[in-house]
Amino acid sequence: MSVPIEKSLSDDLAREVARRRTFAIISHPDAGKTTLTEKLLLYSGAVHLAGAVQARSHQRAAKSDWMELEQARGISITSTALQFDYQGVRVNLLDTPGHQDFSEDTYRTLMAVDSAVMVLDSAKGIEPQTKKLFAVCRKRNIPIMTFINKMDQPGRYPFDLLEEIEQTLGMTAVPFNWPIGEGAGFQGLYDLQEPQVLFFQRTLHNQRRAPMRVETFPHPSLAETLGEAYGPLQEEIALLTGAGTKFDRDRFLAGQLTPVFFGSALTNFGVEPFLNAFLQLAPPPGPRRSSEGLVPPTESKFSGFVFKIQANMDPQHRDRMAFLRIVSGRFEKDMMVYHARLDRKIRMTRPHRLFGRDRETIEEAYPGDVVGLVNPGLFIIGDTLCSGSPLSFDAIPQFPPECFGVLRSQDLTKQKQFQKGLQQLEEEGVMQVFYSPDHVRREPVLAAVGELQFDVVASRLESEYGVKTLVERMSFVLARWVSGDPDTLAGIYWPQDTRRLVDREGRMVMLFGSERLLAYCMKEYPALKFQLREEVGASDSASPPV
Ligand code: G4P
Repeated sequence: MSVPIEKSLSDDLAREVARRRTFAIISHPDAGKTTLTEKLLLYSGAVHLAGAVQARSHQRAAKSDWMELEQARGISITSTALQFDYQGVRVNLLDTPGHQDFSEDTYRTLMAVDSAVMVLDSAKGIEPQTKKLFAVCRKRNIPIMTFINKMDQPGRYPFDLLEEIEQTLGMTAVPFNWPIGEGAGFQGLYDLQEPQVLFFQRTLHNQRRAPMRVETFPHPSLAETLGEAYGPLQEEIALLTGAGTKFDRDRFLAGQLTPVFFGSALTNFGVEPFLNAFLQLAPPPGPRRSSEGLVPPTESKFSGFVFKIQANMDPQHRDRMAFLRIVSGRFEKDMMVYHARLDRKIRMTRPHRLFGRDRETIEEAYPGDVVGLVNPGLFIIGDTLCSGSPLSFDAIPQFPPECFGVLRSQDLTKQKQFQKGLQQLEEEGVMQVFYSPDHVRREPVLAAVGELQFDVVASRLESEYGVKTLVERMSFVLARWVSGDPDTLAGIYWPQDTRRLVDREGRMVMLFGSERLLAYCMKEYPALKFQLREEVGASDSASPPV
């Protein structure tokens, strides 16, 4: 008997959804995110680590660290997507920038994942950037798995680390395995799910999978094998199994409980059990809220949203890539889709699969996947694409800028490239650009979430658009879109330490030197609206430019 085509298509879709995991790693710089990423790729067979390690020692870069500035500074600025298969599961790892100043890009990426892995340095525990990123995950109730790294070095007592997770992040921490020894004496892990011990062997240069030997527990020879570590381990196991909190899948999926794993990404200890557990625990793509209600991933009609734009990923192509996260249905090359913001249909002619700097054309993709679309100015962050009846997904939140600076071109003959670069970087969401309302002072004012972003702008304008620039820092710390009765606005004498500007749409933006000053102005002019950009609605944008 033949299976109806509709039924077999929906079965295919359900199967593809069920085997996808889309996640990001969140961590404070230096906790080991890049190393863990490399090792996940090694275990999946996606890269030959020998090559990656070599590249790293020469330029301090994994596949996902690719821009010049990143390499020069040894930090990761832009997020890219890595896709690999492991044990029949298709894993999409969305890389997030590691430096605290690039948080906005990271925040957007976290809007496109179904779970996150939090990497902690065992000697440092929760650090400032971990907290910030965790707060974003918490807003979306993203399930989080924790990997406590660098167990091959002296670190903090594991029980203290669990307590810190609970106290600082308000999340129940449930260890799935437990370290045996630490520092130079780190031998392996006790598996709390099955009573067994996992021993690891160091490999030369850590370029290969660490061989793992499994011993049942208790085992007559263990006391001898473990030596000094045996006694403390027995006590700790008794404590953990006696008073320990049980894993609760619903609480994990709601982001209230985190399974905790220990290991050392550098020496490959614990990477394999972590990856195996990740595949089992991390959820497949889930439904997403839209203007038409929740859209389940198994909905046959295709839908997705753009969460990132990146220009000049490939110096040879000099094009812009929009990153589309697929929410539902099957994506096919050359399909016609409805572009909600432009209210028109477009053809998906050149979809790409991305792997760091590399790309290849794809024929199809499924929910959870990230597709790179070459973007001839068609897409902006937050755009929804769909087949079937129109819908749009909830907007991607924006983060208010806290740093401001005047951008000066050093080469006045290159105005065209300067303006083009500025517009493209703004569309990518690298920074916002404001202008003086009278256009007498023509130099744009940049607004960014973090100061290092200014270096990114200057460096990219020079390397990608050939324009040398300088950014002169301003002392303002806040921006608000101000609207209200035009006569009232025209008559205001703004206090010192404020600056009146306009955005690209001609809407009035005020910069303030302090929170107090903003509070004063809001009190002084109660009839006016002082809004963040994401609060500025359609009616406000229609108000005449000041
Ligand atoms: P990040 O992406 O979170 O910023 O961290 P990254 O992986 O780059 O790791 C930061 C440093 O910590 C690197 O050392 C890395 O080798 C080291 N590291 C990562 N995981 C482990 C681990 O499990 N054990 C130990 N002992 N070290 C680890 P580096 O000296 O800054 O760089 P490199 O010279 O090794 O490239």
